[in-house]
Amino acid sequence: MAQNVAVIGAGISGLAALKCSLEAGLRATCFEKSDSVGGLWNFMDHAEDGRASIYRSVFTNACKEMMCYPDFPIPDEYPNFMHNSLFLDYLRLYAEHFELLRHIKFKTAVISVRKRPDFAITGQWDVTIEKAGKKESAVFDAVLICTGHHVYPNLPLVSFPGIEKFKGHYMHNRDYKEPTQYAGKRILVVGLGNSGADIAVELCRTAEKVCLSTRSGSWIMSRVWDKGYPWDMVYLTRFQSFLNDILPRAISDWLYENMMEKRFNHKNYGLAPLNRSLRKEPVFNDDLAACIMCGTVVVKPNIKEFTETSAVFDDGSVMENVDVVIFATGYSYAYPFMDDSIVKNSKNQVSLYKGVFPPTLEKTTLGVIGLVQSLGGIPPTSDIQARWAIGVLKGSCKLPPKDKMLEELNEAEGEKKSWFGHSESLSTDYVTYMDELSSFIGCKPNLSKLFLTDPKLYWEVFFGPCSPYQFRLMGPGKWHGARKAILNQWNRTIQATRTRVVSSHTQASSFIILATLLFMPLLLLAVFLAWS
Ligand SMILES: Cc1cc2nc3c(=O)[nH]c(=O)nc-3n(C[C@H](O)[C@H](O)[C@H](O)COP(=O)(O)OP(=O)(O)OC[C@H]3O[C@@H](n4cnc5c(N)ncnc54)[C@H](O)[C@@H]3O)c2cc1C
Ligand SMILES: *[C@@H]1O[C@H](CO)[C@@H](O)[C@H](O)[C@H]1NC(C)=O
Ligand SMILES: *[C@@H]1O[C@H](CO)[C@@H](O)[C@H](O)[C@H]1NC(C)=O
Ligand SMILES: *[C@@H]1O[C@H](CO)[C@@H](O)[C@H](O)[C@H]1NC(C)=O
Repeated sequence: MAQNVAVIGAGISGLAALKCSLEAGLRATCFEKSDSVGGLWNFMDHAEDGRASIYRSVFTNACKEMMCYPDFPIPDEYPNFMHNSLFLDYLRLYAEHFELLRHIKFKTAVISVRKRPDFAITGQWDVTIEKAGKKESAVFDAVLICTGHHVYPNLPLVSFPGIEKFKGHYMHNRDYKEPTQYAGKRILVVGLGNSGADIAVELCRTAEKVCLSTRSGSWIMSRVWDKGYPWDMVYLTRFQSFLNDILPRAISDWLYENMMEKRFNHKNYGLAPLNRSLRKEPVFNDDLAACIMCGTVVVKPNIKEFTETSAVFDDGSVMENVDVVIFATGYSYAYPFMDDSIVKNSKNQVSLYKGVFPPTLEKTTLGVIGLVQSLGGIPPTSDIQARWAIGVLKGSCKLPPKDKMLEELNEAEGEKKSWFGHSESLSTDYVTYMDELSSFIGCKPNLSKLFLTDPKLYWEVFFGPCSPYQFRLMGPGKWHGARKAILNQWNRTIQATRTRVVSSHTQASSFIILATLLFMPLLLLAVFLAWS
């Protein structure tokens, strides 16, 4: 049984892994290359090699009730969607609250993780670290990899013929920090993901011209959803997931498209995904449609080629005198400190059982936390992954045999293709995934029990947002505050925006509505009399 765990990285995932290891009574050491916690959310002026790099204006796209750790709600006074600096504050609060800092070795990079010679028997790893130029090695019973996956840019220059002739400046969005230096310039943003959309919208306020080129299009969702509630509070529910499961594919596709098209017709805006039957993950942006409407962002198809000064698109149109091209073409995965074959399959794709365990190791003493992408926030996902991984390390959870895992992985890959297209990311349905892992742990909320013993809570758990607290409501790792947090989640959501309380008498009261209803027949009668 594993006793001594190495956690690599102190971002969202590393903090969760460290906290859950300590909670389970393991000895854990966390190694963090930089000098503080937060990972990607720790904004820096310049991109650093081997670390995630964000622009200054990044806001969360999951709301506070859906993007917290399940046993540590985000403070009441925080807004629903948080600026990166505020979310970083929350991560620091978490680290302090659970006394994690003394277990983290900062400015310490892990440079190699290798199986020990007797790995097949002990499952142990040799971990080499480098601190202030000095190298050191230590033996660990288990390793949890939490190094993030928005680090290594995916920039396939070969698919952009002529780029070598192009005289302007080009870069990956990783190097984009803020709009000031782009004022008055002519800018081409390539790729319609969250970053591409954000950057196009931000630059178009001051640039001379902004074009946004997309090959396959995307659905655009707004953070502000039905009746002004956060999208994920309304959409990520067990009820919705249940409907998805029972409805025929054609109907659920139709419902999904209908939802995406509610605000605007994506075809009219040049944004619609090429293949509408592929359920492409949405992009979150509240302003893109308005910018297109105002003509400040112009959507273009795929780039055919670059010339010295311009970009030619597939439809033959040309953007002349391009000053800067920003490639928002995503990221690829890399684990430079270990043998790639541990986590990648023969097709060089990351292939992990339930997104966590390499299926072919002799001993399952290595897990990857925070790699799966779903519509839900990363903190609850990392928390559940870490608890399950630690359950496996401690022997309280069992993995199926190797061939069973491989079989399931192959199946899952096929399914993913039909669902999300040839998307690079490891996407899964949030509620289904969370339920699956929580059932392994034994902490999946028991709905029939809730229905019988606590109907009010049942209602909120089933029809309300599938918030992180649900996964600490019962079973191992139960948090005593979970019930209250669930019942109060809407209140906290509203409190964050209702900073000016409007008393009810200034709103249309039900009395007026009633009076109108009574008045209508009289009006119709009057019209009828006037006619006759
Ligand atoms: C622009 C943008 C917006 C996003 N918005 C959201 C959002 O709203 N909600 C959401 O849930 N997710 C969002 N994400 C996804 C994001 O990846 C996760 O929120 C989260 O940051 C992942 O955390 P992590 O701990 O897995 O990785 P990271 O935050 O990248 O942390 C990894 C840590 O590991 C350290 N490290 C790496 N290698 C080593 C090594 N060899 N030795 C020691 N330390 C090492 C790094 O220094 C870093 O601190 C966004 C991503 C991007 C790019
Ligand atoms: C859309 O994708 C589906 C599933 O991969 C495929 O069968 C279909 O041919 C595609 N349609 C178009 C127009 O590309
Ligand atoms: C859920 O609760 C019911 C009633 O208490 C119980 O009979 C059932 O076994 C529970 N289910 C699980 C999966 O624990
Ligand atoms: C939520 O707020 C409303 C109105 O402010 C209040 O009546 C209700 O009791 C609150 N609910 C909880 C569970 O605190």
